[in-house]
Amino acid sequence: MFEKYSKELNNLKEQSHFRDIKDFEKKDEKHIWLNGQKLINLSSNNYLGFADNSEITKEFLEFSNGKYSFGSASARLLTGTLPIYKDLETLLCEMFKKESALIFNSGYHANVGINSSLASKGDVIFSDKLNHASIIDGMRLSEAKFFRYPHNNMEALEKLIIRERNNFNDAIIVSESVFSMDGDIADLKKLVELKEKYNCILILDEAHAFGVFGKNGLGVSETLELTEKIDIIIGTFGKAIGSMGAFAVGDKTLINYLTNKARSFIFSTALPPISIAFTKWIIENKLPKTFEKRTNMLSIGKKFGSDSHIIPVIIGGNRETVEKCNILYQNGYFTLPIRPPTVPEGTSRLRLSLTTEITEKEIQDAISLVK
Ligand SMILES: Cc1ncc(COP(=O)(O)O)c(C=O)c1O
Repeated sequence: MFEKYSKELNNLKEQSHFRDIKDFEKKDEKHIWLNGQKLINLSSNNYLGFADNSEITKEFLEFSNGKYSFGSASARLLTGTLPIYKDLETLLCEMFKKESALIFNSGYHANVGINSSLASKGDVIFSDKLNHASIIDGMRLSEAKFFRYPHNNMEALEKLIIRERNNFNDAIIVSESVFSMDGDIADLKKLVELKEKYNCILILDEAHAFGVFGKNGLGVSETLELTEKIDIIIGTFGKAIGSMGAFAVGDKTLINYLTNKARSFIFSTALPPISIAFTKWIIENKLPKTFEKRTNMLSIGKKFGSDSHIIPVIIGGNRETVEKCNILYQNGYFTLPIRPPTVPEGTSRLRLSLTTEITEKEIQDAISLVK
């Protein structure tokens, strides 16, 4: 039975593409326990150490004192909403100086909902080749035509726009700010310039930058003083914020449109009130105290040749990459091999993600082991 599926699973195993869920015993803000071994977690998006942190969890539970429930029981547009959701959206509007904000259940929901609904038949989307799977899935669900331009290649993007823009009604450019697998940063200045020159809507996914970059942690758009110029900024709460969910901020018309058209928002039960309250509490009380730690983390990234806190160590083949992971594992580090289709064929890699808890020496040692 299910012969087709077991055959495909065997294929995946032969090509070292097979994925399985690990049996971790325990986690804290820096470590992960596997098979009784305590390992430094180099594979976490818990950049500021707010998740898996018993002190923070305890402090928040004391603060919230039973006020928030663990289930919303409904979608936002039905009965799944309370003042705390609006309070978080208002806070985000104030921080970004944008008219409106909308919370989504995850970054995946946000990208699927936004990219599938903003562009409709007769429109076009220009998307960076290395944009996250959720952006690709959103574009696939949209009735618009989409083109993927070579990664961060602004000349190629402009040529593509010149060739295609006038064949369509509305045009959207979509990019990540910090690219999740390469840790490099989009040329935001040029993206803004192109968007203005060719009358496009610019969507920026700051999933890995929200909480990490910028004076107030708003992202790369804050560092470059470009928040005002970007039509829709997306950020996630599941990474640096240590919570769950995502948001989009932008012009009132666009956000109202998403509220009415983004199916991943409309047809899914809202996040639990306690998650929303935790996100808001972290952003208001903990994030403002992280500037020094974040700056230090980014300077460690720079020392190892990255523009961000994500350091890619490209190995090449799948098998060698898995072997390198095992070497790190035997020496007290946890990383996962990143393989196609997540990254292009032949560029399998270790993706070392820094957190504010990890020291320069620990990263230096890990890289020496791999080399
Ligand atoms: C760039 C980017 N956008 C969106 C997501 C999805 O966010 P979430 O995990 O909240 O669904 C991720 C990773 O998970 C990502 O790397």
